[in-house]
Amino acid sequence: MRSNAVPLRAFKSQGVPVGITGLGAYAPEKVYSNADLEKLMDTSDQWIRERTGIVRRHVAEPGTPTFAVAVPAARQALERAGLRADELDMIIVATSTPDGPFPSIACRLQNELGAPGAAAFDLLAACSGFVYALSSAQTFIAAGRAQRVLVVGAEVLTRMVDWSYRTTAVVFGDGAGAAVLEPARHGPGFLSWCLGADGRGFDQITAGNVACGAYAAGEGSPVIDMKGSDVFRFAVDILIRQAYACAEEAGLSVDDIDLWVPHQANRRIIEAAAERIGLPMERVACNIDEYGNTSTASIPLALEEAVRQGRLKAGDTVLMAGFGSGLTWGACLLEWE
Ligand code: ACO
Repeated sequence: MRSNAVPLRAFKSQGVPVGITGLGAYAPEKVYSNADLEKLMDTSDQWIRERTGIVRRHVAEPGTPTFAVAVPAARQALERAGLRADELDMIIVATSTPDGPFPSIACRLQNELGAPGAAAFDLLAACSGFVYALSSAQTFIAAGRAQRVLVVGAEVLTRMVDWSYRTTAVVFGDGAGAAVLEPARHGPGFLSWCLGADGRGFDQITAGNVACGAYAAGEGSPVIDMKGSDVFRFAVDILIRQAYACAEEAGLSVDDIDLWVPHQANRRIIEAAAERIGLPMERVACNIDEYGNTSTASIPLALEEAVRQGRLKAGDTVLMAGFGSGLTWGACLLEWE
């Protein structure tokens, strides 16, 4: 892709140090294995495993709103942060599958959790959305405009999947992840950021006929489509460039990254980028086998799992990195506490 030609903007964190004080995760109980998909379309378990690394994906019941998967992840993050919902100043929900043009999922979540008066809005940056939302939250806190912010990445992507269209149907799954951000209690928290977009690639990954405004024209439920191999090349390239840019901005080297948590779109993308960055897979969080691509939920699902598995200790450096439709990208380096 053309990401080579696009300047990458990286920033050092400014202002009040900000950290993550609680994480939450949720995935619907129902699971479709690759063998289940073999019955729905012309595909095979072997092809899906070898080409994507996906073994199963969690699938919400038909009619499930994205709001419903956001709630349990949000509650868990709050509980682990030791916060009551009414102590929140702001809720940001990143999603690629809004329940409608408005109101935002964040407003519904604010009501459900009981966070009266907290600012609430949704954010759309596709699979980079979780990092964009973290960046927004960090900026509000660092500037003193908020103290406690809940960030959620939530998706019911299977709503936009055509189960006979193998090009994309095998890849996506449903789920949600959440993080509470507050002023850092001990260390520096978030160290550096990289956020960007290349709108020339707006037609690379789409849901509905965006170029014709089909969604706006009421053509019904949009279906995800993508130019897989173009996106693959863009993804590997942007993951590598973001790792170097974030490390440099923080005055570190990529060797200092203790855990890399990339967007889970394809295991081969992750392995190819990790190899070029020089990170062994022991220092990479990869759970695509269990969830497939859950867009904004994939980074928090992988981070929460890594923390639960004891793969992070205080003082470790974590790099989260996303890429997705737009085309968008976003990464951040965080000192874990
Ligand atoms: N099952 C079996 N065969 C398949 C399937 C399938 N599900 N899909 C494609 N094939 C076949 C093709 O027809 C083709 O056959 P041919 O060689 O006879 O023509 C062959 O497999 C190879 O097809 P490719 O499309 O070249 O397969 P590729 O290895 O590129 O894998 C994939 C496709 C998994 C989509 C990959 O390109 C990819 O992961 N791309 C990146 C996607 C991504 O990162 N998206 C991120 C953002 S998502 C968002 O923002 C919402």
